[in-house]
Amino acid sequence: MYLMKLFLDTANVEHVAEVAEWGVLDGVTTNPSLVAKEGRDFKETVLAMCDLVPCVSAQVTATDAEGMKKQADEYSKWHKHVAVKVPMTVEGLKTLAYCKKKGIKTNTTLIFSVNQAILAAKAGASIISPFIGRLDDIGQDGMELIAEIMLAWSHYGFDTEVLVASTRHPRHIADAAQLGAHICTVPYDVFQKLPLHTLTDKGLKKFLEDWEKVSG
Ligand code: G3P
Repeated sequence: MYLMKLFLDTANVEHVAEVAEWGVLDGVTTNPSLVAKEGRDFKETVLAMCDLVPCVSAQVTATDAEGMKKQADEYSKWHKHVAVKVPMTVEGLKTLAYCKKKGIKTNTTLIFSVNQAILAAKAGASIISPFIGRLDDIGQDGMELIAEIMLAWSHYGFDTEVLVASTRHPRHIADAAQLGAHICTVPYDVFQKLPLHTLTDKGLKKFLEDWEKVSG
């Protein structure tokens, strides 16, 4: 039994090193858009992160199963902390089944429905990533999808972990934990907001002022 794992949703190694020091970071999720934003070599980035956290998602870019399997074989040899990220397509399902047989850890990305979640889990995904912010963006309740997936999971013995992705604000993280999601991935700017509360700042200021009075 563990408390919900927290991942950083980034391809910025410095940000991972910074948050890893807090003692709360369980992993990192990268994707091609995040890697492109940083402009650094993909393999080097993944390896640097693998030295900092125990789980780093590295996404395949092939769209056919043969190509995805080849990339999965390659990435999984880079480091034991790599989880191969595979998109939720039929070709992706074939790749998940292949990886499961070979003992390669996987994360299925771009999940937007309970049925996609079920298929990915049955194909052998280690992790599934429902994108809640992108559902919110089109006027659907992304967190409702997490509630539905967790309810379905509660009836069965899936080993597949549910990772809440595409989070946009601190409330998403609190809600994900209350639904019992296994993992939540959080962008750097949102992560920075998690430790903050104005009453904490105000309370600490008062403690220090009062202490100053007695200690001179
Ligand atoms: O890991 C990828 C996922 O979290 C995407 O987030 O903000 O691009 O929808 P976003």
